Amino acid sequence: MKKIIIVIDGPAGAGKTTVGRMLADCLGYRYIDTGALYRGVAFEAKAAELRIDDDSALENFCKTLKFEFVRDKRGVRILSGGLDITEKIRHPEITMLASKVSARPIVRKFLFGLQREMGLKKGVVLDGRDMGTVVFPDADIKFFLDASAEIRTHRRYNDLKSICYQTLDEIERDIKQRDKNDSSRDIAPLKPAPDAIIIDSTNFSAKEVVHLMLSYIKEVL
Ligand code: DC
Repeated sequence: MKKIIIVIDGPAGAGKTTVGRMLADCLGYRYIDTGALYRGVAFEAKAAELRIDDDSALENFCKTLKFEFVRDKRGVRILSGGLDITEKIRHPEITMLASKVSARPIVRKFLFGLQREMGLKKGVVLDGRDMGTVVFPDADIKFFLDASAEIRTHRRYNDLKSICYQTLDEIERDIKQRDKNDSSRDIAPLKPAPDAIIIDSTNFSAKEVVHLMLSYIKEVL
């Protein structure tokens, strides 16, 4: 069967990562969480005490970064310079910094090249904010996954439980702030591609969303 490029964009907590992983497993495809790359830049910039508004320092810094995705029995992991940072990048402070870092054109340029390289081999599911609009406007199929702010807050709360404690109110505040940052930035703002299939997952389980997506994918295949 031919291998294709599938992209899923959408706001924080819409279920992109859960659904993206399940979809990739069903199809035997690779899964790439591009948000983890922005989080990786934020994590490393913080560790290096780099000022993210200093473009020239940021550009040189990006050139030193080496991210890769690997699979182990826990699932897909992200390595930075060979070190596993999968859990570390989920902390709320890194989450907010990732949203700020992602508005810097120099960072987007750096990750654009990396994401294109990772996706071009086909047989891949990528999720993010600008996959269908900027990075893979040529994707074979584009989904835009959304859900109500309330359900997204609850999903994030459940995701974060094992990593750190944040109240529902704090999570809701962060999600709203990130929605605002990610959709109002000048470069590659979060929005559906004109040819994206829009799915509202508010009342659906992850399995149901995957099932629905597979029915669209079968048409393309
Ligand atoms: O999907 P996520 O929550 O892990 O993403 C973290 C941040 O990275 C998010 O606030 C916006 C940014 N991001 C982006 O600008 N473009 C992408 N393709 C993926 C994420």
